[in-house]
Amino acid sequence: MKIIVTGGAGFIGSNFIKMILADCSNIQKIVNLDLLTYAGNLANLKDVESDSRYHFIKGDITDYDTVEKIVSADKFDLIVNFAAESHVDRSIYDSRVFVHTNILGTQVLLDAAKRNKVNRFCQVSTDEVYGSLTDKEPSFTEDNPITPSSPYSASKAGADHLCLSYYHTHKLDVVITRCSNNYGPYQFPEKFIPLFISNAMDEKKLPLYGDGKNIRDWIHVLDHAAGVWSACINGKAGEVYNFGGGNEYGNIEIANKIVDILGKDNSLIELVRDRPGHDWRYAMDYTKATSELGWIPKFNFESGLKDTIEWYQENRAWWEEIKSGDYLNYYEKHYGK
Ligand SMILES: NC(=O)c1ccc[n+]([C@@H]2O[C@H](COP(=O)([O-])OP(=O)(O)OC[C@H]3O[C@@H](n4cnc5c(N)ncnc54)[C@H](O)[C@@H]3O)[C@@H](O)[C@H]2O)c1
Repeated sequence: MKIIVTGGAGFIGSNFIKMILADCSNIQKIVNLDLLTYAGNLANLKDVESDSRYHFIKGDITDYDTVEKIVSADKFDLIVNFAAESHVDRSIYDSRVFVHTNILGTQVLLDAAKRNKVNRFCQVSTDEVYGSLTDKEPSFTEDNPITPSSPYSASKAGADHLCLSYYHTHKLDVVITRCSNNYGPYQFPEKFIPLFISNAMDEKKLPLYGDGKNIRDWIHVLDHAAGVWSACINGKAGEVYNFGGGNEYGNIEIANKIVDILGKDNSLIELVRDRPGHDWRYAMDYTKATSELGWIPKFNFESGLKDTIEWYQENRAWWEEIKSGDYLNYYEKHYGK
């Protein structure tokens, strides 16, 4: 198989590329197209950079000419689109690049897939497109209405709609995966779990939004990567598949687990002003992925979290380098005030 993976230098994309290169014998070629924004990091892929099947191209998915050149250069079986602006907080601060990358970028890729007759397009989406649940509501199924709350999730929802429109209008073979919150190695340390692990390791405060009781469903990144691959291989064209870990926890429970595992004092946890429009609860019903794709999450959350914390302890240099950079000023530098 010949595959284009976009955003492969990010957290999930890099785990996905390493997983399929290690586990799938039929991979002939993977082209990783990544712009290397503040969130992209080639260090995530150093284990595979000498693999002759792996090729990296620095480029922007919103750039028509770049994308056309790459997609037309070979007969590709599959495009998997991980590339996105992915941090909700940043989308509240400035949503321009979210709309640009997440919607326009997806449209450019879809057009290139259509023109060049790529066999399948897999869009990696999120549970956040469904909006928020109350404590009593059942988990999201694929039939839930799309009611995103943040500019991030709205841009991902826009991309999902566009993908399905290419399936209906142009008969492009599209599958969409929607997944809950990921944790695991190589996650950018602005995100909740790696931020709290790295801060706690350095005895820094752990800023928890609101009353800390918002609920998320956590899934190990390798379970998600396996889910995306199963949708790519066994998914039905035009279908959406939900993936989740079945691990619903309040954010404060996660914060307490992290300080406990690290042997730190939970006085490090500090409640701060809530995120505007903060979704209350996400939970995924992944019955369809299990029955149609044979997928189930394999990681136990307690041991997965412990292993993740160990990874951040053993790879201090990886996150220290990121945290010492000026990634917080990324948007101002690139897009102005
Ligand atoms: N992290 C989660 O918990 C989660 C959950 C569900 C779905 N998702 C989705 O999975 C995908 C990957 O998420 P992640 O957490 O790995 O994100 P990430 O921010 O770690 O990585 C995103 C990658 O995309 C690249 N990128 C950004 N703009 C680009 C552009 N214009 N052209 C080419 N590359 C570009 C970045 O350089 C980076 O390598 C996203 O689409 C996200 O919406 C994430």
